[in-house]
Amino acid sequence: MVQQVAKESVGTKGNHKRTTIFTYTHTKRTGFRFILYAEGKDIEEDIRSLQLDSAEENNGVVNPGDARPEEVEVVDKMEEDSEEVQAVSQPVHPEPKVKHKEVSAVEDAESQQETEGNNKRHLNVVFIGHVDAGKSTTGGQILFLSGQVDDRTIQKYEKEAKDKSRESWYMAYIMDTNEEERIKGKTVEVGRAHFETETTRFTILDAPGHKSYVPNMISGASQADIGVLVISARKGEFETGFEKGGQTREHVMLAKTLGVTKLLLVVNKMDDHTVNWSKERYDEIESKMTPFLKASGYNVKKDVQFLPISGLMGLNMKTRVDKSLCPWWNGPCLFEALDRIEITPRDPNGPFRMPIIDKFKDMGTVVMGKVESGSVREGDSLLVMPNKAQVKVLAIYCDDNRVRHAGPGENLRIRLSGIEEEDILSGFVLSSVAKPVAAVTEFIAQLQILELLDNAIFTAGYKAVLHIHAVVEECEIVELLHQIDLKTKKPMKKKVLFVKNGAIVVCRIQVNNSICTEKFADFAQLGRFTLRTEGKTVAVGKVTELPTGSRICWENMCLPVRARTSSLGCGTGLKVPPTVGALLRIPRG
Ligand code: GTP
Ligand code: MG
Repeated sequence: MVQQVAKESVGTKGNHKRTTIFTYTHTKRTGFRFILYAEGKDIEEDIRSLQLDSAEENNGVVNPGDARPEEVEVVDKMEEDSEEVQAVSQPVHPEPKVKHKEVSAVEDAESQQETEGNNKRHLNVVFIGHVDAGKSTTGGQILFLSGQVDDRTIQKYEKEAKDKSRESWYMAYIMDTNEEERIKGKTVEVGRAHFETETTRFTILDAPGHKSYVPNMISGASQADIGVLVISARKGEFETGFEKGGQTREHVMLAKTLGVTKLLLVVNKMDDHTVNWSKERYDEIESKMTPFLKASGYNVKKDVQFLPISGLMGLNMKTRVDKSLCPWWNGPCLFEALDRIEITPRDPNGPFRMPIIDKFKDMGTVVMGKVESGSVREGDSLLVMPNKAQVKVLAIYCDDNRVRHAGPGENLRIRLSGIEEEDILSGFVLSSVAKPVAAVTEFIAQLQILELLDNAIFTAGYKAVLHIHAVVEECEIVELLHQIDLKTKKPMKKKVLFVKNGAIVVCRIQVNNSICTEKFADFAQLGRFTLRTEGKTVAVGKVTELPTGSRICWENMCLPVRARTSSLGCGTGLKVPPTVGALLRIPRG
């Protein structure tokens, strides 16, 4: 068995994103061992994702149909065993242990078998919450309880944690694989790992809680279908995380706007001596969180499940907590709750859309991302947008397996021919040729203003950083069109020149470089966004109108342009020629 924890981060200052893969592997002779498998590759840019959701809708939620067995045909498997334990860092190898070979008829038969052998749905689950709430500990414990990490590894981590005077952090070390993270006891990069329950294959995305790493959290949440919101019940910690300006509120709001429609709210650290599985403490947290979750757009009855756990002790996780310890809890344990979550299926037959979150060279050009719409098959011809490069799909990798075909919701690596790695940036979209994604420099959106810095005024000329699926790009509000009445939800008649915190406003937004987007109503994940300024989220929004011709103007007007780094070190990097820019203008009024 091979268990990997991959780390991903969005550069906060520099132009690099590092991807590092750590592998827990099982050797026949020696049992489970920890291997640092691949050291990261520097990749252009800051970025990543954000796919925001407007609070009221649930459409576009990832699917579970992703889950559908027929949508993933396994072609080849990663090698399962490693005879030798390696403890050294190796040069980057983005696809560890994946065999690269042509698929023969025999393999076809094998692949079919393997497909049938894994008839489980797939869900991406992001762990969010205030710093030190216990996200990595809980994620690590899940891997331990699901048999991915053995006792010896845990003992090794106990010793390492003790040496670093961080005794209680040993479980978090399973997810916090970087030295910096272990020394500080804080997740920096999103950790990614896989585990399975009876019915579901899960990809865990362990987000950082610290406010400095919100862009990484956004990246993790934007790839997720569901969220586990970890709240510490320890005395004072819930209060710091929720009531005193901690990250709990921002994470919930971002998760909702990024399309995480279902939440498991785990009240963690129930074993702590200040809590001692107290029903009163649990009820207090539930009663304080409920109105806030409602206000953030969650239907608490339908979309949120509360449950108490101890991530550190592994209690109420794989099996229900013992009645002698917690007599008042009659609900499910974490694994049961994860298994029961239902998500709106997505259409595997929709036009193909996969925002690219990462790319690298490996026997061709490999792009990584989550399929937001449609399906992909080996041999398909696709477009990389917005530079309109025609490409061919040479191979598809899903988790550890090479597959022939994959549907919506899957996290994939796709090897392409017809494009160089340097001609792709994070935020580009791998798209169907027949119905390509729109590429625009301007669009109309409905924005909800959250909290402007120093109570600034939101007006034409306001500049911010736009996060939309995997794009991070500077933008400017060029015109406020109308304000929405909060009571009637209808446009107000009076011309609006500025709005303040809490307002909902429809406005025209411009970006310097062409970006791929869609109307929220058509493809929610590609049409929801956040605006951030100086490290704070100031607004969330959804795209409501795209310029006429945004899908076809590229055909004749634009030649593919080599990707370049924008002022933010990110974005699509495609400058729109002035003539085309003019065509893309939305008529005012
Ligand atoms: P960031 O990544 O920095 O946002 O933190 P995190 O949410 O991942 O928290 P982490 O898992 O690193 O745990 C922080 C501290 O809380 C560590 O000392 C853990 O041992 C402790 N902790 C986590 N879960 C539990 C729990 O269930 N019970 C107790 N008593 N302590 C816990
Ligand atoms: Mg952590």
